[in-house]
Amino acid sequence: MDKTQNYISENKERFLDELLELLRIPSISADAAYAGDVQKTAEHIADSLKKAGAENVEVCPTAGYPVVYGDKMIDPSLPTVLVYGHYDVQPADPIDLWTSPPFEPVVKKTDIHPDGAIFARGACDDKGQMFMHVKAFEAMVQSEEQPCNIKFMIEGEEEVGSENLGVFVKENKERLKADVILVSDTGMLANDVPSVTTGLRGLSYVEVEVTGPNRDLHSGLYGGCVANPINILAKMIASLHDENNHITIPGFYDKVVELSDEERAEMAKAPFSHEAYCKALDMEDVYGEAGYSTPERGSIRPTLDVNGIWGGYTGEGAKTVIASKAYAKISMRLVPDQDPVEITNLFLNHFESIAPKGTKVVVTPHHGGEPAVTPIDSIGYKAASMAYEKTFGTKPIPVRSGGSIPIVAMFEKELGLKTILMGFGLDSDAIHSPNEHYGLFNYYRGIETIPHFYVAFNELSK
Ligand code: BES
Ligand code: MN
Ligand code: MN
Repeated sequence: MDKTQNYISENKERFLDELLELLRIPSISADAAYAGDVQKTAEHIADSLKKAGAENVEVCPTAGYPVVYGDKMIDPSLPTVLVYGHYDVQPADPIDLWTSPPFEPVVKKTDIHPDGAIFARGACDDKGQMFMHVKAFEAMVQSEEQPCNIKFMIEGEEEVGSENLGVFVKENKERLKADVILVSDTGMLANDVPSVTTGLRGLSYVEVEVTGPNRDLHSGLYGGCVANPINILAKMIASLHDENNHITIPGFYDKVVELSDEERAEMAKAPFSHEAYCKALDMEDVYGEAGYSTPERGSIRPTLDVNGIWGGYTGEGAKTVIASKAYAKISMRLVPDQDPVEITNLFLNHFESIAPKGTKVVVTPHHGGEPAVTPIDSIGYKAASMAYEKTFGTKPIPVRSGGSIPIVAMFEKELGLKTILMGFGLDSDAIHSPNEHYGLFNYYRGIETIPHFYVAFNELSK
């Protein structure tokens, strides 16, 4: 792999310039106004794959945004790795809070990234991390050191629920045949504490609408006499947690797999500083379910969070009004073996049942996804561990993440393949938030680590 690593160090600047170019295209999948840019990004990725040395590159249409496919099959006797990533990004708002425009990437130094970090929407999630794979692939192909057959499947709808990827996968099972799936769309503990993600939470996402009177009312004439949907919604939401911050929806915890004391003790070995955590978020203390540590609350326990709430008058000054309607968007993060459809139904039945007389409640489910866990005794995990050890000089810690990548469970179901989550982002990289960034250290270290995965996977497959 010396040639590959030399190629990487000789091409570092170009690798950065090419990522910056990719980050300039605003591929926001949630907003139809950017449809042209999302499409353009797919073509840009296809082009990058071709230039890197991929064959059979195709921008595959779906009912939504295309999936970009490409491969380089060198020997049928070698194992095949399928790389997944996404080229779509989250919306950039609130735009005012960005210190530089979200689609004009710049490199700035931060305390955590003294060598500099790229500030742009998608820098870490997932353009930066996905592009590491394209560059690592290029380095291996151009150096003629490719230890496995490699396939790419890069989608454009991850941030909106990957609704069309399932159909693509079902229709392309032969083309996607592989031995393992490799993804960089998660994080690690710190730049000197590498980790491999071994679990993801599932997701159930609903929107609720509470209606009181059939029109907005004068809050003096009617106040005190009718159900104010905003008051009621606030009350209903507050009742979803008890004093221990347990979720009160009947049946919600029925299928939750509790970890053994040994497993929890193992988890507790991963470094975590309560002080640093609070300081980074400028909070006096943490808040969460009684009986669990912060890392546990954020990974092995299910949650329910309001993501948005609105209704009534929010303009300048005061308007005395009781609104007819109030709304909220609510996400529930799920853990094995909770089923998103079942949880959505439990929520729906419960939320309707607690609505007082004089109100009407409508619950609309959005996209969801199943949780996933990966074993650490697979050759895929071992290969990842060996790769990190090569470049970081220390073995990575297995860590379950709180985020969701619903397609991981889907890949397992449809393709029968486990996914290895080699993420290089940090929790402090502000993904989905203003000033998202990705460390140059992380970008380059990722590109350097990936080829070692292929070497180790080849070795361990023998
Ligand atoms: N890459 C993230 C998920 C992630 C980030 C997992 C960091 C672990 C660590 C992904 O793009 C994402 O944002 N997923 C969504 C779910 C999706 C259905 C919109 C999420 O977790 O909110
Ligand atoms: Mn992502
Ligand atoms: Mn994301």
